[in-house]
Amino acid sequence: MIDFSELGLPEDHLHFATDAHSADVCTFELPDGSKLQAKQELRTGAGLGTGAVQWQSGTALAQALLDSSDLERLVASKRVLELGCGCAALPATISAIKGAASVVATDVAKLIPLVLANLREYGQTPGLSDANKHALASTLEARPLDWTSEEEVRSLTADARGFDLVLCADCVDESEALLLALADVISASLAPSGVALVASGARSQRLMALFLTALRRVGLDTTELAPSLRPLPAAEAAERARHNDATRFFAVTWPDADGARAARAARAVGEIGSPRAVGEIGSPRAVGEIGSPRAVGEIGSPRAVGVPGTASALRRLDHAAVASAAAVGTQSATAASPVAADVISEEISDVISEEMAAMWGDESHIAALLAANGGRGYDVVVACDVIYKQVEEVLIALAATQQRLMLSPGGVCMLAYEFRGEFFDDVAYFDAANERFEVTPLSLGEYEGDLKDPSDEESRWLYTYTHK
Ligand SMILES: C[S@@+](CC[C@H](N)C(=O)[O-])C[C@H]1O[C@@H](n2cnc3c(N)ncnc32)[C@H](O)[C@@H]1O
Repeated sequence: MIDFSELGLPEDHLHFATDAHSADVCTFELPDGSKLQAKQELRTGAGLGTGAVQWQSGTALAQALLDSSDLERLVASKRVLELGCGCAALPATISAIKGAASVVATDVAKLIPLVLANLREYGQTPGLSDANKHALASTLEARPLDWTSEEEVRSLTADARGFDLVLCADCVDESEALLLALADVISASLAPSGVALVASGARSQRLMALFLTALRRVGLDTTELAPSLRPLPAAEAAERARHNDATRFFAVTWPDADGARAARAARAVGEIGSPRAVGEIGSPRAVGEIGSPRAVGEIGSPRAVGVPGTASALRRLDHAAVASAAAVGTQSATAASPVAADVISEEISDVISEEMAAMWGDESHIAALLAANGGRGYDVVVACDVIYKQVEEVLIALAATQQRLMLSPGGVCMLAYEFRGEFFDDVAYFDAANERFEVTPLSLGEYEGDLKDPSDEESRWLYTYTHK
């Protein structure tokens, strides 16, 4: 812990009190020539733990984000999360100024009022340009996130896209148990192609080594970076690890973005898809009720329902996801399809609660489906192989129905799609979906059944949609 008395300042008025900051004012020269100041008068509070003061690595990470032009692409238009932001949230603040689409600064709940007060103060720095004031006001928010609170972690990571950039400065010197929780939070929040930048202070080399191990255990890759945030050659990294006097930076990434995407989709289903909270659009009965005879024949036939796309989509997910996702298949669909039945065990079929009509775009059906789920949207909506030779209005109604049925915010729709030629017909759906949702595509590879067209390569996809 910091010895506040050494600093000769009243305890509720301390800032940069730690292993670095001797300066009274920490000034960031911003790209547009204006300045942002975090002063010693930065509001702090007693009894708020280590987050009550600004630490060296937070400032160093903020400065690195500001200086490194290589990092533009990591920040600009991205979704950014800072973990354990402390009272000053400097890396989050600089990310907002560097053009992030959204920035969430997080720490334990008791710190959040202080964080908010400081963020407001940054916005009032004399001479700060209007553009930067606007960037701070429009993109930056502060939210409570205790790494050990399942509920807070789940709520923050409910958006299946994850965060493109996760920032974490000086957070590894608390306790070993917390390191494991922090590694889990990074894994739960980091988007498949995202990067977490972790900065660690001089005091915490041993814990940092444990933390790197914890990150690898949850499947993440770690690379040590130079202060310019470029990768550090291995020999230099080893040398740095021997010194106890410098901030160290690490990039944390998923080794396999596609695998991470599948795992994320699986988690979205496995964690939030309680059987009752799942609805399927386009089960055979629903299709039978809404479609033209031809549409029923093509879409609702056993072959089309037991789609290879569905089965392999489910197979690509882990077992928990299969359990939940399979629960949305209607019994008639599974009975009709040996392929689907194959992935749906008996115990799972018990949880299928009911079948209901769902004419896409029909408000009374949508209202009944929502009412059946206690008046709220569904956590997961699944639609498999429902797009084929439909007219434009039907496809738009399908996208609109997905949007209405998905819990907002946080709902996910998974759509298994197989391209069967004549993409033109299907385009209306994708236009309507892209307008409404953020999409994460997962290639399921080529169709391998009897109807295989040798020219097809990536003809099957699992699209995971989340609200914009
Ligand atoms: C050494 S401070 C670093 C603060 C800030 N990143 C900086 O560089 O100034 C460690 C931070 O981790 C936060 N922290 C500790 N345990 C936490 C937990 N369980 N959940 C979330 N944050 C936690 C503390 O509140 C504190 O803000």
